[in-house]
Formats: sequence, C-alpha cells, structure tokens
Amino acid sequence: GLMAATAMHAAEPFLVAHRGASHDAPENTLPAFELAWKQGADAIEGDFYLTKDGKIVCIHDGDTKRTGGGTKLVVKDSTLAELQALDAGAWFKPEFKGTKMPTLSEVAATVPAGKKIYVEVKCGPEIVPAMMEDLAASGLKDEQIVIISFQAPVIAEVKKVKPAYKACWLASFGKDLPLNPGTDKVLATLRDIKADGFSSKADARLDAAFVKTIQDAGFEYHCWTVDDVPTARRFLGFGTLSVTTNRPEFIRLGLRAG
Ligand code: G3P
Ligand code: CA
Repeated sequence: GLMAATAMHAAEPFLVAHRGASHDAPENTLPAFELAWKQGADAIEGDFYLTKDGKIVCIHDGDTKRTGGGTKLVVKDSTLAELQALDAGAWFKPEFKGTKMPTLSEVAATVPAGKKIYVEVKCGPEIVPAMMEDLAASGLKDEQIVIISFQAPVIAEVKKVKPAYKACWLASFGKDLPLNPGTDKVLATLRDIKADGFSSKADARLDAAFVKTIQDAGFEYHCWTVDDVPTARRFLGFGTLSVTTNRPEFIRLGLRAG
C-alpha cells in the first residue's frame, strides 16, 4: 500500500491537497479533507472567510452560488448558522447531500500529527485576530500551520502578530502580475510583507531561472494547482517545496511510476 511504498522512497514530494481531495469529493468540506489524508497528502489547503458574526468558514467563492446548493448568500454578510444550514455537497454528487460548510476549527481538527494545513485567507486582514484564536485553540503545533493569501496585507499582518507561522504570498501571472518584468515586483512585495515564501500558479511560462531567483533571494517557492504528472515533475525539477493538487493519490502514484 501507500505507506510501505512511502518508506521505500528516499525523497517523496510534498503534496498539498487543494481544497481537500477535491477531484473526488466536494471541495472545502470535511469529506474532501478526510479523503485527502486517506490519499496520503502531506497537507491540506482550504479557503477561508470571516462571517458576519465573526466566525471563520471554509468556502472558495465570496458567495454560495456555485457550491451552496443553488443559493446565493454573500459569505461576509451571512452568519455561520445561515451558511451551515446550506448543502455544500449535493452540487458535487448526490451521495454528498447534507454535507455542511466546515469552520476553520473543524477543518484544523482533521489534521493528523506531523501533517500540515495551508490556510488560505480569501478576505482581508480583519480575519487575523479570530484566525489566531482558532488556530491556537486547535492544538496544532506552530510548524503545522502555513498561512497563504493573494492579499499582501494579510501576510504582513500574520507575520507581525505571529512570526512563528509560515506565511506565503500567492500570485497568478498574467492576472495579478505580468510575467515579464515580474520578478522584481514579486521580490519587493515579499520583502515588504516579510513573507517566508512565494506560491505561484504552475504556469507553463515559468522556468527554473524564475524559481531560482525567488530562492536565491531567500524565499521558499511553492506552486499550484497541478493535476498532471509531467507538470508536477517539471516544477519539482525547479525545486518547488510543495505541489498543490486536487488529486494527491493520482499524482503520488504517477510520480513514483517514473
Ligand atoms: O494554493 C493556492 C491556490 O489554492 C490559489 O488559488 O483559486 O484555488 O484558491 P484558488
Ligand atoms: Ca485556495
């Protein structure tokens, strides 16, 4: 099985389950996160917002239209009770009917010893105090927690209040940043917000030189979202520290198959 094979391989790549094992279960739900652990993920990634009543909920979009059973509540203008009354599983497959949108605490509670959670903040830094409280109460060790965000002020605030948490800034080239010239702007932002690293879309236009520039400046490099083995292999060749994927088991087995 997966465990025995893991022991035999010297350097297994670090795989992060994107929104959980979201190829096989509804994204950002407990079934998806539990399945990610069963599929041998090293970490889970989830998307989080602050609700109207100051709780933290796991959902990707700013409203519930796509994943909330045909409703359209704006997440930040809704209470946790309103959001958890919705069905966050049926849209994916009927067998997941009745699955609730989890809180950050519920997602963190699935993380086994030695595994990590990548907490992606989709809203602004107003979430940080509640997030720090929930993560501290989770019982997870500091080194099990990585904060990621496209919002530079969120990373800056996290590194200010809790430097022990790794925090990485996200950007997708072509949208948030031009590819060329892009590196100087990336490095300036990373320094400014005291980020530990940078995590980019695994864009086909990126190359080893780009990743080396990030790493030579003293920052970690990570990438997302990779569901095919050749792309995973290419970015691992550049020295990415993690590969975020919707399909952790498929990528793990595919990489091992050589
Ligand atoms: O891991 C980062 C990645 O999840 C960012 O993109 O849209 O899937 O949240 P998105
Ligand atoms: Ca995400």
